[in-house]
Amino acid sequence: MEDHHGTKDIPGYDLGSPTIAKSPISLDELSDLKASTLFTDEDVVYLRLSYDVLKDQAEELVTMWRGIIALHPHLAEYSQDERTGEPDKEYGEKVGKRFEQWVLDTARAEYDQDWLNYQYEIGLRHHRAKKNKTDGAHTAAHIRGRDLIAFSAAIVSPMRPYLEKGGHSAEVVNRMQEAWWKSMILQVTLWSQPYMKDGDF
Ligand code: HEM
Repeated sequence: MEDHHGTKDIPGYDLGSPTIAKSPISLDELSDLKASTLFTDEDVVYLRLSYDVLKDQAEELVTMWRGIIALHPHLAEYSQDERTGEPDKEYGEKVGKRFEQWVLDTARAEYDQDWLNYQYEIGLRHHRAKKNKTDGAHTAAHIRGRDLIAFSAAIVSPMRPYLEKGGHSAEVVNRMQEAWWKSMILQVTLWSQPYMKDGDF
């Protein structure tokens, strides 16, 4: 696998890998989608500013998000091994490493073809098309589209105290969080593609 960001040591993290399918939309269409979220170059600046603030907090963020999932049985059930009813810890650890890398990738805000292709892959990995396949796991076969989309709010809303740790002014923290909202909505929109009927995306 190509070493895209010095991350070849994360099992199953395939950004830039030739094994990943090409995104069904083009970079030009991605530009239109960004425009639909009012995402601008200024958002890129604030996402990249958040990189320095979050780079050593990715693990804590993932733990916090998982805490939210654990509190809600309709979400917690997704990571149970269907053969035992117990959480699949090995799967959880592997996915967790990739989730941490996603925090860094989102903050890096580099929107090239490899990134776009990987957004398609992340959608597929939540959908029955590819869930469990990367790690050979036996957990729930599919994450409901409604849970995937709604969880966007649970991702960005509780990020504020983490963004505040960089010591930036409240105004700059607001701006970083707004850029995260736009990026999250942009990404979950791309991830929703496998959930839509052919021709509807
Ligand atoms: C918008 C909100 C969400 C974000 C930002 C997010 C983020 C991610 C990321 C970055 C990955 C790893 C992708 C990779 O393989 O590189 C992942 C995988 C996964 N996520 Fe999510 N996720 C979200 C919603 C959810 C929800 C609601 C659940 C269920 C409670 C969930 C459960 C999982 C599982 C089980 C995997 C592993 C899928 C596999 O088998 O490959 N995610 N998620």
